[in-house]
Amino acid sequence: WLKKKQLGRFMRERLPRDLQQRLRSFGRVGEELGAQVYLVGGMVRDLLLRQDNFDVDLVVEGDGIAFAREIAAREGCRLRTHQKFGTAVLIFADGFKVDVASARMEYYQQPAALPTVEYASIKLDLFRRDFTINTLAIALNEGSFGELLDFFGGQRDLKDRAVRVLHNLSFVEDPTRVYRAVRFEQRLGFRMGRPTEHLLRSAVRQGFIERVGGNRLFRELELILREPDPWPAIQRMADLDLLKYIHPNLKVDARMPGLVAETRRVVHWYQLLYLHQPCEPWLVFLLSLTARLDDDSMLGMCRRLKVAPRFLDLLCEQRRAAKKVLAGLRRRVRRGTEPKASDLYRMLRPLDSEMLLFLMALGDDSIRQWVGHYLSSLQQVRCELNGHDLERLGLPPGPLFREILDTLLAGRLNGRLHSRDDELALVRKRFLRCRSEPGATVD
Ligand code: CTP
Repeated sequence: WLKKKQLGRFMRERLPRDLQQRLRSFGRVGEELGAQVYLVGGMVRDLLLRQDNFDVDLVVEGDGIAFAREIAAREGCRLRTHQKFGTAVLIFADGFKVDVASARMEYYQQPAALPTVEYASIKLDLFRRDFTINTLAIALNEGSFGELLDFFGGQRDLKDRAVRVLHNLSFVEDPTRVYRAVRFEQRLGFRMGRPTEHLLRSAVRQGFIERVGGNRLFRELELILREPDPWPAIQRMADLDLLKYIHPNLKVDARMPGLVAETRRVVHWYQLLYLHQPCEPWLVFLLSLTARLDDDSMLGMCRRLKVAPRFLDLLCEQRRAAKKVLAGLRRRVRRGTEPKASDLYRMLRPLDSEMLLFLMALGDDSIRQWVGHYLSSLQQVRCELNGHDLERLGLPPGPLFREILDTLLAGRLNGRLHSRDDELALVRKRFLRCRSEPGATVD
């Protein structure tokens, strides 16, 4: 464990070289502008835990926006500023992103006589934060580069593997911290300190979570479900009575551990196979978590949490459609009949990959195999002829085209058509008998 407060060497060993150079250059610019610059937050916490995290959050004792402007001018970065909050985001040409915040200006009104006052504003900035493990900061200015600031026992709590708040009103001031506490506990394998858990339970009992805006709550839930294995956090939320704020009917029942474990398995399978395809695993976990809610409750949950329209379709409309698909597939399992490839395609095509993965998690082995077959091969099947080809064959554009192309695709899916010539032969036989015009060719 690191005892020294000088982390320069440790940073040299742990951080990529180009990142170290950037951090040093931030410190140099800060020095030139007469402002202290600190690396803060998750990156410092994870550095000390020897975990890779290169999300750079800076706090500047002074005008953070002026500092960010100077960096942007020197390095040719894109810059977004939020005057109201004194914050900025720098985006370097290689995509590297840095968040910059100003330690609040009012903190400067403190008496400036004592040397420690240099740190007073960063100290107050850090005091506003959620947990002690997130209050560590590393000085970046030349001369003090690598110096660790630990005002609130952050190192001790990292060592004790404890999530602790800084003061008694922390969860009352910002009840979303309740969910953050669960997330950090489970992600880092830490445990809340006893007084912290007591404060959390008391804030929950007093109903403070009801004051959190739906979209903020949904965001916290998303972050929890984005963890590689959200199950321990789901259990912990149940233990702390937090699930009811997502929806009053939401409970961890006997089937949920199995469903979440199966979800993890299918998501993992998909990620190994289809890295290039867009898929949001957290949505699959959300579907599993809410699997037992009826349609009205699901809609109620989406309304309460102000779920964005882009997720509404998946969580409500597609979910309704998927239930019917699942019932149809289960009937086939019971009867012992395999669906034809073209039927499988027709049923599954309207569903996003998240919903298909959810179906795999819910279904038995046959259903998993069928949906897996759709995802891994049927979904990619195309016929070769297109509308232009049909026009060139002399067919009149209109609804007939759809019918022909669907027939061709079904032929491909069911393994009856293998080539462009097969497709042409079928079109000629089925659709062109009375229409063949001289000279109409498809090449
Ligand atoms: N923070 C807080 N209260 C909140 C949200 C954030 O005090 N409700 C503080 C935390 O101290 C945190 C910092 O703001 O360190 C940045 O927030 P965020 O990026 O969400 O946290 P990280 O610690 O960087 O966590 P992660 O590793 O998940 O990005």
